[in-house]
Amino acid sequence: MQTAELAEESRDTEYIPSGIQGLDELLDGKGLPKGSIIFIVGGPGSGKTTLGLQFLCNGAASGDHGVYFSLDEPLDSVIRNSAKVGLNVDQLYRERKIGLRDASPIISVEGEISAQKFLRSAESGLTSLINKVDGATRSPPAQRLVIDSLATLILQFPVDAERRLAIKGIIEAIRPLNCTTLLVSELSDTALERAYAFEEYLSDGVIVMMSLNVGGETLQSFTVEKMRGVDHDKLAHPYKIVKGGIQVFPTEVADY
Ligand SMILES: Nc1ncnc2c1ncn2[C@@H]1O[C@H](COP(=O)(O)OP(=O)(O)O)[C@@H](O)[C@H]1O
Ligand SMILES: [Mg+2]
Repeated sequence: MQTAELAEESRDTEYIPSGIQGLDELLDGKGLPKGSIIFIVGGPGSGKTTLGLQFLCNGAASGDHGVYFSLDEPLDSVIRNSAKVGLNVDQLYRERKIGLRDASPIISVEGEISAQKFLRSAESGLTSLINKVDGATRSPPAQRLVIDSLATLILQFPVDAERRLAIKGIIEAIRPLNCTTLLVSELSDTALERAYAFEEYLSDGVIVMMSLNVGGETLQSFTVEKMRGVDHDKLAHPYKIVKGGIQVFPTEVADY
């Protein structure tokens, strides 16, 4: 984008603090564009859920109501794990400052795991998620939204073109809600490939969290690949999971 165009866009855009330690420094000191829809891409254990909850908890501290949708992990496990990294998700939930919703496509019926009825069709699973998100963000009105993660739902669409349409449908349904939204996505466990890279063109931002185990050492890198309306840093930076969530080191470069 041209500098003048960027300046024009920046003038009209409001920004919110991300709540992630070190991230706003990579975003020209501004934070996340308000109402933007951002993909958080990373492998298992890279800290995507932690980052999503940190975004909501710190938002709640400044008066933003946020809603978290879990599609992959039971809510009790989400709450337990967040407490381990020093996030007070449980307390904020009880104080109704954040909402927690289980939107898992899989439920346990009489001891057996079975797909919920609505997931007999991926299409109706998508519609169901969109309806739940719509309902949960209206009352009280939410300013922040996290959907964690889209992988299970989206991978049920076997054809690339259908998958793209599904992502497009989600983004178009979320946009009018005016929530600053993190859509958690996945890297496959084996190859560092995006599960659905193309669809990221449809979003306003893409943040990639890489966690590599090399010779027993964990190397973690954090990159803002895209953020519309922000003259952002594009380098990979180290990050850690610390008390309070994710800490990015904006002045260090991850050259591994
Ligand atoms: N207190 C802690 N300090 C550092 N790392 C932690 C701590 N608690 C959990 N972790 C690590 O955080 C990771 C889980 O983060 P999570 O946000 O659930 O990742 P993801 O959602 O990307 O799978 C695990 O790899 C775990 O080892
Ligand atoms: Mg997770």
